[in-house]
Amino acid sequence: MKWLCSVGVAVGLALQPALADDLIGNHPMTPQARDAFVSDLLKKMTTDEKIGQLRLISVGPDNPKEAIRDMIKEGQVGAIFNTVTRPDIRAMQDQAMSLSRLKIPLFFAFDVLHGQRTIFPISLGLASTFNLDTVRTVGRVSAYEAADDGLNMTWAPMVDVSRDPRWGRVSEGFGEDTYLTSVMGRAMVEAMQGKSPAERYSVMTSVKHYAAYGAVEGGKEYNTVDMSPQRLFNDYLPPYKAGLDAGSGGVMVALNSINGTPATSNSWLLKDVLRKEWGFKGITISDHGAIKELINHGVASDPRDAVRVALNAGVDMSMSDEYYSKYLPELVKSGEVSMETLDDATRHVLNVKYDMGLFNDPYNHLGPKESDPKNTNDESRLHREEARAVARESLVLLKNRLETLPLKKSGTIAVVGPLADSQRDIMGSWSAAGVKEQSVTVLQGMKNVAGDKASILYAKGASITDDKGMIDFLNLYEKAVPEEKRTPQQMIDEAVATAKQADVVVAVVGESQGMAHEASSRTSIGIPESQRRLIAAMKDTGKPLVLVLMNGRPLSLVRENQQADAMLETWFAGTEGGNAIADVLFGDYNPSGKLPMSFPRSVGQIPVYYNHLNTGRPYNADRPNKYTSRYFDEANGALFPFGFGLSYTTFSVSDVSLSAPTMTHDGKLTASVTVNNTGKREGAMAVQMYLQDVTATMSRPVKELKAFKKVTLKPGESQTVSFPIDVNALKFWNAQMKYDAEPGKFRVYIGQDSARVKQAEFELK
Ligand code: BGC
Repeated sequence: MKWLCSVGVAVGLALQPALADDLIGNHPMTPQARDAFVSDLLKKMTTDEKIGQLRLISVGPDNPKEAIRDMIKEGQVGAIFNTVTRPDIRAMQDQAMSLSRLKIPLFFAFDVLHGQRTIFPISLGLASTFNLDTVRTVGRVSAYEAADDGLNMTWAPMVDVSRDPRWGRVSEGFGEDTYLTSVMGRAMVEAMQGKSPAERYSVMTSVKHYAAYGAVEGGKEYNTVDMSPQRLFNDYLPPYKAGLDAGSGGVMVALNSINGTPATSNSWLLKDVLRKEWGFKGITISDHGAIKELINHGVASDPRDAVRVALNAGVDMSMSDEYYSKYLPELVKSGEVSMETLDDATRHVLNVKYDMGLFNDPYNHLGPKESDPKNTNDESRLHREEARAVARESLVLLKNRLETLPLKKSGTIAVVGPLADSQRDIMGSWSAAGVKEQSVTVLQGMKNVAGDKASILYAKGASITDDKGMIDFLNLYEKAVPEEKRTPQQMIDEAVATAKQADVVVAVVGESQGMAHEASSRTSIGIPESQRRLIAAMKDTGKPLVLVLMNGRPLSLVRENQQADAMLETWFAGTEGGNAIADVLFGDYNPSGKLPMSFPRSVGQIPVYYNHLNTGRPYNADRPNKYTSRYFDEANGALFPFGFGLSYTTFSVSDVSLSAPTMTHDGKLTASVTVNNTGKREGAMAVQMYLQDVTATMSRPVKELKAFKKVTLKPGESQTVSFPIDVNALKFWNAQMKYDAEPGKFRVYIGQDSARVKQAEFELK
């Protein structure tokens, strides 16, 4: 495993001697040495050179490589993103190292959310594994591949908690839960940065989007966020903090406003909380074009004013706009931005460059020219084995009536649906440098796994959508929806004819990757109508119907849940997605994924999240009552709750036993259950522990995830699973914004998901 060998590789490949400069040397990787070095360097820099360090440029049509090279030479660029090959990166670094006055190395960044060359499942899928080791594997492989492409930094992980599946970017995060998002984000940071981002095969991370982007009103992209400080600190901020505590060197600032102040102009967020309270020493980076957007937000009068506001608020680097370079010289001259403020921002950029090891070796992720891969997309650069293993673990079995699954590797299987054979869609959004030709579709995977034992027939059956407006939207930036010559009815007829020849139908349906992306909020979260018609036609054939769902957000699936015999949630499972899905469909792998977000029954119920407050009149399904908190026109609660997921075996969970009925503020107790595999095959289950503060000075959630453990059991085997609890698990920000645990009664819930739990009580003295 090539990526494992990387851990512990020392910094400092041989320098390219002609380019060496006195800035470059064997600098000790300690904060003291760094601070002294950076202070010294700052003294040598002109104002323009400092401003240049704050500019982060995206290579693209607006900024072709040649133009960028000139700017680099003039010291006008601090870092580059969206360039992902070693020759391109080396050419730019050469420019900085040989022609700029001070020869300060550039750093190179990219969005590596779920893989670089090898694409892993989208983050929602990674969260579904409920397995931190698995997430670490993804982080390590991604960092390996990114560093091997010459990159130093990634705009990941995305740790925006979100409770609104209308928001397309829920696909990029780890779901609705604060704890799950925090531990997943932390694991990703630790794995990607390794012992140090300066290692040959590590990259620096940048947690995003700070802060609370996932709470945009109505799930509408880029919308406003308004929330109480208690909710912000208890539910939304902890994942960013967890990433920073794990050592993330970067923070990307959110595009939204919070309580009326855009994050990009929010000195309370960027200075008081981030720097003063949390002690963050790395860089803050504006999101794409966010500085000039301050004008639209109505907090800056013109571009010059926007620069003044953003830098003074604490935005160090400006992503993809020229305004810092254009207006900072005069703003510094006039004193509207002090030299001290400019120095602080520049210092943060130089600090991270030092931590990336760039002053020891500006080519540390590049190596000599001769070592460049002949073909950047070469098959040998992929980590298919890891991708398949991770993807299998990310799949969530939602329904399995009469053991429809696993399928037999015999007879005839009809595979239908617009997503069954789409190489692009299975990679999901933000698929970095992944190449669609290298991804395995569900159809291909089923053929691979079944071999010649079963006959697999295919008919597309429907387009992703027939809605012209939606097709135009999805095709805006890339030709994402293939043109279809057949009429919708002809396609359905073909699928019906195919299904009639088969013993079972597998329909691969859901969203295209572009429907669950940045700038892709939806007002309905159902499967598009074209595909619903296909599903209905398949149901009408009377054949057993398996729905393989591909989507980047929870969908409303009430009707499909009635129609289907089995449903497997596969998110966007990545390069090896098709093989992994086939492994589960044919039973070579027993699914164990659990939902990281509740699946609402309808849009009208949103937000639906398991860790809500109780209200004064909670709804009780066993004793329904009119004057309770409910909707009267629909069943209440999620269709599939947070933490839910079936297996091909069954498990039982015993009553909860506590090591003591009380706990002191500095004490500990242990909650345990015995888990038994009551079915017929080996399987894994993520045992989940939730806590509830029953009576406090503030209303507290009905339960909150505090720990989980995945156990693998043979049929008939039992295992005791124990969770230690200490006061840290009981603390919260109260009405006076004091963070502590309050004495009183607590409930412990342990179970297979957030709804199916056993409980016990203890008291904090
Ligand atoms: C997104 C960020 C991303 C950046 C650079 C922006 O549009 O909001 O998440 O990192 O682009 O690609």
